[in-house]
Amino acid sequence: MRNVGELPESADVVVVGGGVIGLAVARELARGGAEVLLVERGEAGAESSWAAAGMLAPQVEADAADEFFRLAAASRDAYPDFARELEEESGVSVELDQTGTLYLAFDEADEAECARRFRWQTRAGLPVERLTAHEVRALEPRVSARVRSALRFPLDGQVENRLLVAALVKACARRGVRVVTRTEVGAIKVEAGRATGVETARGTTRASSVVVACGAWSSRLRLDVSSAHGGGGDDKTQTRPRIEPVRGQMLCFAPAASSPQSPFVRHVVYSPRGYLVPRRDGRLLAGTTTEHAGFDKSLTDAGRARVLTHAREIAPDVDALVLSDAWAGLRPRGTDAWPVLGALSDVPNLFYATGHYRNGILLAPLTGALVAAMILQRGATSPLLEAFTPERFRRASSCAV
Ligand code: GLY
Repeated sequence: MRNVGELPESADVVVVGGGVIGLAVARELARGGAEVLLVERGEAGAESSWAAAGMLAPQVEADAADEFFRLAAASRDAYPDFARELEEESGVSVELDQTGTLYLAFDEADEAECARRFRWQTRAGLPVERLTAHEVRALEPRVSARVRSALRFPLDGQVENRLLVAALVKACARRGVRVVTRTEVGAIKVEAGRATGVETARGTTRASSVVVACGAWSSRLRLDVSSAHGGGGDDKTQTRPRIEPVRGQMLCFAPAASSPQSPFVRHVVYSPRGYLVPRRDGRLLAGTTTEHAGFDKSLTDAGRARVLTHAREIAPDVDALVLSDAWAGLRPRGTDAWPVLGALSDVPNLFYATGHYRNGILLAPLTGALVAAMILQRGATSPLLEAFTPERFRRASSCAV
């Protein structure tokens, strides 16, 4: 991606935020012929996109066959083409893995949860397999002997999210997206009901459309609304989408010294409390915590202990591995935990592509394609996006009063 020293005076679209979502939207916009400027407060893809584990697991993450599930499943199904195109454009393989995921049960409550999942997913016509303890351990010998049963979701999988960032950055560069890193956007300027550009510490850029794609930082952006009487502010802040950071701590184990080539597990393996993700290079990731700690990305002793306990429950042999790394990231969570995708009715050229919470990597292909299409087609929206409109917060707030 081209790194520019100065902000251009104008662009067709300014994308605020350079994580996988901002990059995916920028790439699609540039593919559609738009002149795109992406502005990132730090380095591209260095926050939650980097901290994620890369699971593509709608059949684990969704709780019902609802609009969120439909979006997530469609995005998972878009991954093979997305990964192939990105590899062609960037030369970077994103290590798409479609081995499937396992969801383990260790007690009665877990078994009830598996039964509930099996019911709604089979009713929805989804492929899901019920495994006995014996079958689980035949597939994954390192899973604990305490396992009672499991579900296998054969269409779920994973991608190497840090390679995904690298591929998107290169693909954006190839498509002519301009990027300014280490530059914080303080405000989006709005005049006469239209977004007119962004204000940064390094200057102002005019734009025909603006996209808010800065994840956990989205609610820090101000709308600088000029009224006929002058002055700047936004009198509707109560009804704008609110995005808050939710910390997740992760552990990473080095490949086993005795057998560095053979994966610790082949599937992504979940329990209702934690997960293990095997990387192609032999590393094993273990996650995670769900903490409301503001913008604090510190690791804590309690967090590490919790992740390790849940990893051991899945596979006690993790104790034989060497911990090689640990990190924390900030998931962007909207008030109702669903993504925020689409335009504001009172500022129809200001688009949101944020609030992806636990599923930013999974939702990147479809968010990129659908939000870019909405912008390029001047507001025409896909039925898949209707439930995620930023307008839902306005409706909820008017019902509450
Ligand atoms: N998608 C998994 C997580 O947020 O931990």
